[in-house]
This record gives sequence, C-alpha cells and structure tokens, in this order.
Amino acid sequence: MSAPRILLTRRWPTQVERHLAERYEVTVNDGDIPLSAAELAEGLRTYDIVCPTVTDRITAEVLEAGKGRCQMLANLGVGVSHIDIDACRRLNIVVTNTPGVLTESTADIAILLMLMVARRAGEGERQVRAGAWPGWAPTSLLGSDVTAKTLGVIGFGRIGQATARKAHRGFGMQILYHSPHQAPAEAEGLLSARYCASVDDLLRQADFVSLHCPGGAATRHLLDLRRIALMKPGAFLINTARGEIIDEEALIEALRDQRIGGAGLDVYEQEPRVPAGLMALENVVLLPHLGSASVETRVAMGMRVVENLECFLADLAPPDRVP
Ligand code: DGY
Repeated sequence: MSAPRILLTRRWPTQVERHLAERYEVTVNDGDIPLSAAELAEGLRTYDIVCPTVTDRITAEVLEAGKGRCQMLANLGVGVSHIDIDACRRLNIVVTNTPGVLTESTADIAILLMLMVARRAGEGERQVRAGAWPGWAPTSLLGSDVTAKTLGVIGFGRIGQATARKAHRGFGMQILYHSPHQAPAEAEGLLSARYCASVDDLLRQADFVSLHCPGGAATRHLLDLRRIALMKPGAFLINTARGEIIDEEALIEALRDQRIGGAGLDVYEQEPRVPAGLMALENVVLLPHLGSASVETRVAMGMRVVENLECFLADLAPPDRVP
C-alpha cells in the first residue's frame, strides 16, 4: 500500500498524534465531535485505515455505505461492541483493539465506584458543595463498609481479575466470580476466588456485584428486572463495562424502591445521555466513562493502536486482531 491514509475519528493524546503524523498521512477530527453515520461512511471510503473509538457506531449500514477503500479499523479501546464485527469479516476489514493496557486504570475506577457508593461520597460531596453540610453528627451519612465484604465479579478476564485482586488484597474482600469458563486453579488460588456456575447464583450471595463482561447482543440486559431482584437487599451494583449490560429502567426502579443499596456507574446505555431517573437519585454514583481516562493509559492505548497498524502495514499479523 503506497502512502496509506489514516483517519483518527477523535482527538488523541498529542504524543500519539505526533508519532503518527511524523510517519503517515493522518487526518484528525479536529473538532473532536463524534462523527455522524454519513461522516463515518465517508471516512471508510476515503482512508485506508480508520481509527475509531467507543463513540463511533460502525454498523453494517455504515460499513456497506463506506465499502471500497478501508482495510482496517484500528480501534482505540478494548470494547468493540460499537463495531459490527460480522459485517467487517464479510467485507474483509481487519479489526483490532487495545487489550491489556487499560486493565489497571479501569479496575481502579471499579474500586473507586464501590467506595464512593458504599460510603456515600457523592452525596457527601454534593452537600459540601451546596453549602448544605450541617457538620459532623453521629448518625449522618452512614454508609456500608467495603472491607471484608463479598465481591461478585461477572466476567473474569483481565479487568475482572484486576478488580478482584485489588478488592481482595486491598480490602480483604471474599471473591466470587462468574464467567463462561472457570479460571485456572492458580488464578483462583491467588485470590481465594470461588466460581459460581450461574449469574443468578452469584447475585444471591454478593454484597457488591461488579460487571466486567463484554457488551453487545449476548450480554444486553444481562442485569434485568428479574436478576436485579435476586441481589441481596443493600447490595451494590458497579458497572465499568458497557451500559447495555444493565436494563437502566429496571435499575432505576430498584434504586428508587431501595431494593438494593446503590449503584456505581461509569457507562450508560445511550452515552452521553444519562437517564433523568438516575440523576434524580442519591443512591447512585454517576461517572462520565472514566475507566481508561488517565494520561498514561490513553497514551498506552494510542501506542497500542500504532503497533497494530504498523504490523498490518508491514504485512504482519496485528497482535490484537479481533477474531
Ligand atoms: C474501552 O476500552 O472499551 C473503553 O471503554 C473506552 O475507553
């Protein structure tokens, strides 16, 4: 391929943009506003490699409308549920992602959410900022301890395991997990983790439930009205994975009726829309998809994309090809 043309659909950390610009013909979406379906299709028609991210909905229709030139989608981020992978396969478009480099920062946000929601940190901060803090009182803003409680991890890949490790080693939590495959005995042993054969079984036992499975059709509304009702009264639900895994309306109902203790959310079904029903509640912590948002991690993600596209351009197998 002569002088490949590369499109970044959003602004990336300067250091990564510079690295790419010094080597390739690169166009960056300077406005940094997510591209429309028509603009994405136009990008696919005009560039050899398109580097999208979670804010781009690359559906089968977009791919069909844009087919012809683009040979690779080098995604910035590990989740790829915003890309129609089957359609990419059909159109011979290679898709890569950035696993491994955002594990710790995303697990940190899961822990942050557990602490914030259980210790009512969001409520407390809102009080202070509103000038409404009446001062210390023996019974004000009493939350729940995190230390020594039971954490149920759904999806025991890199991020799930990192969250479990931080929770177990840092807070002495007991770990339960559910995933399609039981982890090797060694991984379980390190964390004294116990496998639950079903999500339902895990939900009945955990004080905190943290979601770490991929998004997409297979896990859409995995946490629905029925399953949320299985959670222990007073338990907390944490989501740093993908918004669509939780039925938001069902969660709002459970939180409003205080059937569970609270929720800590970093992701939403229709980002950046956050339902008014959630915003009206005190027992939920709402973060703006911060999982991988540290300078170090975003640079590492960008450089991981660079590695993948450089392999592709050199006719080598990209290390993070999505099968
Ligand atoms: C990911 O990697 O999928 C994140 O959600 C985007 O930062």
